[in-house]
Amino acid sequence: MQFMRNIPFALRLAGVVVVALVLTGVLYFFWGAHAQAAPPQPLPFPHKLMVGAGVQCLFCHSTATTGPAAGIPSVEKCAGCHQVIAANKPAIQTLLTKYWQPKQPIPWVRVNQLPRYVRFAHNVHVNSGINCERCHGNVGQMNEDYQVVRMNMGWCLSCHDQQPNIRQLQDCSICHY
Ligand code: HEC
Ligand code: HEC
Ligand code: HEC
Ligand code: HEC
Ligand code: HEC
Repeated sequence: MQFMRNIPFALRLAGVVVVALVLTGVLYFFWGAHAQAAPPQPLPFPHKLMVGAGVQCLFCHSTATTGPAAGIPSVEKCAGCHQVIAANKPAIQTLLTKYWQPKQPIPWVRVNQLPRYVRFAHNVHVNSGINCERCHGNVGQMNEDYQVVRMNMGWCLSCHDQQPNIRQLQDCSICHY
């Protein structure tokens, strides 16, 4: 411990601060940045490649502005492009032979799923001017999608609290059946 006393206090303090920052960074990386790890999917789905090629979110999630669910595109929609685009890639071969030809739906695993007793409608939120990224993060940059925020009640309310009609939006019965 003798050597500790020889190190100036400011330097020791700086050391503690650095260690604390590193620890916070590590914790943030595991808990914050990836609120949940990406679930394994039956087929790779790299949003980054398709959004990067200019395909719009609403082309595939076509009911996000008209109904409660955003919707997941059918295998027919994939085949519409992939019978031609990147048709020689292994993942696309699987897509075509395992799902498209036998007319089997792709059993995607849900990433964001609220409990059954909660009501949520995409159209209301998206048409109020809240963009996809506000709730889902930058999906367009993801190679496999994961949940960026824990979608618990506090999270819903933290945004509802900032709306003009706050009283109505805090009412239990608007979100719970
Ligand atoms: C509007 C056209 C379009 C639709 C619809 C589409 N994709 Fe794509 N997809 C692309 C483009 C463009 C790329 C990038 C191709 C490249 O980089 O060579 C791509 C890349 C991919 C890749 C990566 C291929 C590789 O290994 O390089 C996979 C996997 C994929 N798409 C799966 C799907 C699935 C599954 C669906 C249906 C849910 C789908 N795509 C719908 C256009 C489309
Ligand atoms: C070419 C079609 C296509 C395009 C374009 C596309 N998506 Fe997707 N998206 C899918 C498919 C297929 C899935 C299901 C597979 C998965 O979760 O990776 C999905 C899953 C998602 C999910 C997770 C759904 C869940 O289970 O909770 C979100 C969120 C999402 N997309 C948002 C977006 C946003 C935002 C954009 C635009 C930046 C976008 N998507 C563009 C096809 C597409
Ligand atoms: C206000 C937050 C919010 C916004 C904005 C939002 N989402 Fe979602 N999204 C959610 C929640 C919450 C769920 C889970 C819903 C459930 O389980 O009922 C979800 C689920 C999904 C799903 C999977 C289930 C489904 O609805 O088909 C997809 C795909 C999706 N979102 C895409 C999008 C796209 C694309 C946009 C932008 C056009 C968008 N979301 C905007 C909160 C949001
Ligand atoms: C980023 C902000 C934001 C988040 C996060 C958010 N909301 Fe909302 N919500 C809004 C806005 C804005 C409205 C529309 C207010 C209006 O115009 O009356 C709204 C309206 C609603 C409504 C009433 C309209 C309807 O669909 O009947 C419900 C229910 C609702 N939200 C549920 C949820 C749930 C559940 C969550 C969490 C899973 C959530 N919201 C997260 C901003 C948000
Ligand atoms: C803006 C939407 C919204 C409003 C308003 C809301 N809730 Fe919730 N509530 C949720 C969501 C989303 C969950 C699911 C949380 C999760 O999955 O972690 C939830 C979960 C719950 C649960 C289960 C908690 C648990 O730990 O399992 C109870 C109980 C509950 N809410 C009661 C209420 C009461 C009482 C009110 C009114 C004072 C209310 N909620 C208002 C969105 C809302």
